[in-house]
Amino acid sequence: MKLINKKNKNYTQVFHLFTEEEWTKTSKNFNKNISTFFMGKKHEVFVNAHEEGITYFIGIGKSTLQNFEIQQVAVKFSQTQKGKVQPVPTLVIADCLNERQFEEFAKGLLIGTYNYPFEKTHAFWNAKFELHFENLSQKKLDTIGKKAEALSNGQTACQEWLNKPANLKKPDTFSLYLKNLAKKYDLKYTSFNRKKCEELGLGAYLSVNQGSAYDAAFTIIEYKTNVKNAVTFGLVGKCVLFDTGGISLKNPDNMHYMKSDMGGATAVLGTLIYAAEMQLPVNIVAILPITDNAISENAFLPSDVITAYNGKTIEVLNTDAEGRMILADGLSYMAKNFKTDFLIDLATLTGSSVRMFGDTCGALFSNNEELKNLLIKTGDKTNQRLWNLPLWDVWKDDIQSDVADIKNISMKPIGDCIIAAKFLEQFIENHPKWAHLDIAGVAFGNVGYAKEKAATGFGVQLLANLIENYH
Ligand code: BES
Ligand code: MG
Ligand code: ZN
Repeated sequence: MKLINKKNKNYTQVFHLFTEEEWTKTSKNFNKNISTFFMGKKHEVFVNAHEEGITYFIGIGKSTLQNFEIQQVAVKFSQTQKGKVQPVPTLVIADCLNERQFEEFAKGLLIGTYNYPFEKTHAFWNAKFELHFENLSQKKLDTIGKKAEALSNGQTACQEWLNKPANLKKPDTFSLYLKNLAKKYDLKYTSFNRKKCEELGLGAYLSVNQGSAYDAAFTIIEYKTNVKNAVTFGLVGKCVLFDTGGISLKNPDNMHYMKSDMGGATAVLGTLIYAAEMQLPVNIVAILPITDNAISENAFLPSDVITAYNGKTIEVLNTDAEGRMILADGLSYMAKNFKTDFLIDLATLTGSSVRMFGDTCGALFSNNEELKNLLIKTGDKTNQRLWNLPLWDVWKDDIQSDVADIKNISMKPIGDCIIAAKFLEQFIENHPKWAHLDIAGVAFGNVGYAKEKAATGFGVQLLANLIENYH
């Protein structure tokens, strides 16, 4: 998609955007019949074929709308109309949008082209598709175009990997993809196999991986800026490619959804792509402990006592609480080996957070006010919302063990997402600015591009926005 500051005489295709207010003011200038069907309401589209061509009247709703709502309108427009829109230079008339809002519109158009499953992006939304818009300078349009492209590439990669069926994303396939990605974007790529992990003592991660038919891949990807004194974000993403529950086997009814248990990792992946394409002036260290949680003769067992990377011992009472095991080593490896200003982990961690918030927001835990407020604010802005939950020490009482420093589940049927966060806190090595995002309810769910539940892309815009706007 190309954004061009230009207005020719004639267009066979026009996208004309209206708020309700603007439509009320100007509708008299248009054919009366249109008002019968179109009012400028959010998501309304009226296709008007006339002598010169086709005008798409696009409603964006009340003029008081938030920026992310414009992206929503564009996503839906793109998803529903992409088969009809022609690949010809298209005039955009959007006097009701300011620069930021036009940016959201452009982002939404691209994000909405994502197809599922196994289809390439619709042919006409290719690099040659021209949108002509005269309200913004070419320089501004270039920046907007670049941002939209980078974001859509990041979010699409996130969604594509989360949506893949389990047999098409084994640990070796995903690792190879990451390796090539690192090459493409000039990122530093390190991956520890099982033997290396044993040497390093990544015991909590290995306890999950030992039952896998695939080798371990504790993967570290680093994006570095040339800018001096830049802040460093440490991102840890839960990367369980399929979670059977292990020996503590899951109920089969919804088990197929557990291909989405890498939602933390794909959010980090999309963010890395965005940062690298935009060359953001920050450093990012990403740790993705890749594995599946399988059943086998080698699988870890309830009652196992294992030693984590930081030396703490963990009593395993449920092998389905595997996410906190691999994150424990991800977090302490990050804390011990990298100097980061912020440490953020993302994980599809608990059914408890799904029962609490459904798909309305992720559960947020943090030991730092600044980071917590920043995340909540960015979540509100991007509509990838978070809500804060406590890390009070009383929650630790329920994971005290008789045989180890800590056990991996509580025996009480309450607040498991808080218990899990409290568990993770034991592995951040006193990092002063840590946040844990439990995104189990929001990473995968109802979407506009598929009938079944699918990847929402949650986390990419949240993190990208946070990192891009942090000064
Ligand atoms: N991957 C699941 C959490 C999950 C549940 C994600 C539903 C998305 C939707 C995680 O590994 C898990 O199994 N958690 C258990 C923990 C329990 C055994 C303490 C859970 O939440 O039931
Ligand atoms: Mg599990
Ligand atoms: Zn899991």
